[in-house]
Amino acid sequence: MTNVTAATASDDAARDRPIPPMPSTPWWRSAVIYQVYIRSFADGDGDGTGDIAGLRSRLGYLRDLGVDAIWINPWYSSPLADGGYDVADYFAIDDRFGTVAEAEAFIADAHDHGIRVILDLVPNHTSDQHRWFQEALADPSSPARQRYHFSAGRDGGPPNNWRSVFGGPAWTQLADGSWYLHLFDPSQPDLNWDNDEVRANFLDVLRFWLDHGADGFRVDVAHGLVKHPEMPDVDAYGPVVHVVDSDDHPHWDRDEIHDIVREWRAVVDHYDGAVLVAEAWVHPDRLANYVRSDEYHQSFNFSFLETPWDAAALRSVIDESMRALSQVGASNTWVLSNHDVVRHATRFGLPDPARWRAWLRESDPSEPDRDIGQRRARAAALLLLSLPGAAYLYQGEELGLDEVWDLDDSVRDDPVWFRSHHTDRGRDGCRVPIPWTATGPSFGFGDAVAWLPQPPEFATLAAEVQAGDEASMLELYRTALALRRRHLSDDESFEWLASDPSVLSYRRGGVTCVINLGDEAAPLPRGEIIISSGDVHDGLLGTDTAVWVRA
Ligand code: GLC
Repeated sequence: MTNVTAATASDDAARDRPIPPMPSTPWWRSAVIYQVYIRSFADGDGDGTGDIAGLRSRLGYLRDLGVDAIWINPWYSSPLADGGYDVADYFAIDDRFGTVAEAEAFIADAHDHGIRVILDLVPNHTSDQHRWFQEALADPSSPARQRYHFSAGRDGGPPNNWRSVFGGPAWTQLADGSWYLHLFDPSQPDLNWDNDEVRANFLDVLRFWLDHGADGFRVDVAHGLVKHPEMPDVDAYGPVVHVVDSDDHPHWDRDEIHDIVREWRAVVDHYDGAVLVAEAWVHPDRLANYVRSDEYHQSFNFSFLETPWDAAALRSVIDESMRALSQVGASNTWVLSNHDVVRHATRFGLPDPARWRAWLRESDPSEPDRDIGQRRARAAALLLLSLPGAAYLYQGEELGLDEVWDLDDSVRDDPVWFRSHHTDRGRDGCRVPIPWTATGPSFGFGDAVAWLPQPPEFATLAAEVQAGDEASMLELYRTALALRRRHLSDDESFEWLASDPSVLSYRRGGVTCVINLGDEAAPLPRGEIIISSGDVHDGLLGTDTAVWVRA
């Protein structure tokens, strides 16, 4: 009997890696990019909120994990009504996070650790505290209003039937009788992208941060910027307001968006290795439009994230994504979790993982099965990290953090919770600060209690507790990242191998990857097991277990 747990690989390979020169295959095509939700990563000044100083102090951890880049959620000056996606000044860092000088020093330090830094660009809307919106409010006849979407109402109500992603109408009426558009919170008025000043301003924003060393931008609500000029009613929204499945929607995924992206790309191309990454909740076929050669470099594959733990469904979404993106020569960008969705270790423990949004609205939510969720999350990590293309990790998934789904209502902060009249628990559960140590007021997150309370179980999941424990999620990720770099990153080849329908089996160069999603044990291919997500007995792979095998 052979018992194999996670294979070990030397951490040394990951250390001391300065950013390599531009190779013939651009770095981002196969990169592992780690998402930092800065409020919740590490608190350097002891005020309970994460910040640049905290993040900087953890660069060694990220280097040892083996990531190529980080994407930092918005750190700009903001009232934080939507966690920073309500930007009051794109050229300033929020006091709670640091200063522009600290940001610049941080980026330089990250580069010294071999880690590129991608920032978050929020172009669909500003904060209502942005100078532009304040100017628009001050004078109804001011041209300042043309930077946003102001309109007269219809029949005593809003101008049309558009809905806010966070719940309720997408329009708010001012005391002067006019209405303004906000596809998200009322504190996030939508910008008018037909306005030249708006367009010019964002080119300045790009240059400003690229000149400060940034390696690119993840672009927020990339499918939202342009609205139909006549603003007609939406015929029917699908079950999720911001997930688009129509080719002709009045406020999502409009073709004119692509002209804007080309302007941005022309700027970004002046900076070696800099990238644009789209957050666009559209079908793979439409997603391909965003990653044409003169537009975004990559775009998150949310169809993959939304797929249940089911071999046939995963196989079909993988095929569909690879087919759609290869038509425009783009690589894929796989992702399982982010700051907007239920953490996948919890999702996979739900009776129906694809119904996580409905679960957030259950008044008496069913308890996820933690053992199943963790087992699948381990296998899913080996799936995510072995598919050809880039992989995005969300902070804490490498620790196997669960969604904190039972937060006290009094501490909830997400506008979704408030806009849904306390019927949708929203996204706070995936944003609880990271546990670094087993003890302390916030498990090493900082010297104070964290801005969102951490559950006692976080003590056992702390990075310090997992480090060096071969059976831990952290060591699984570290090992997988090192092996990926060694065996998989340089080669985009992919070939399905014959297998039982409940098993995914494919070849990536010299490595065969097998993920068993069925109830029965599955046979293993011949070769050396270089990593496994769980125990392998007698040449058989158990349920919800994955291996990489070298021929
Ligand atoms: C994106 C962000 C989300 C934010 C929204 C509005 O979907 O990921 O966190 O609330 O845009 O900016």
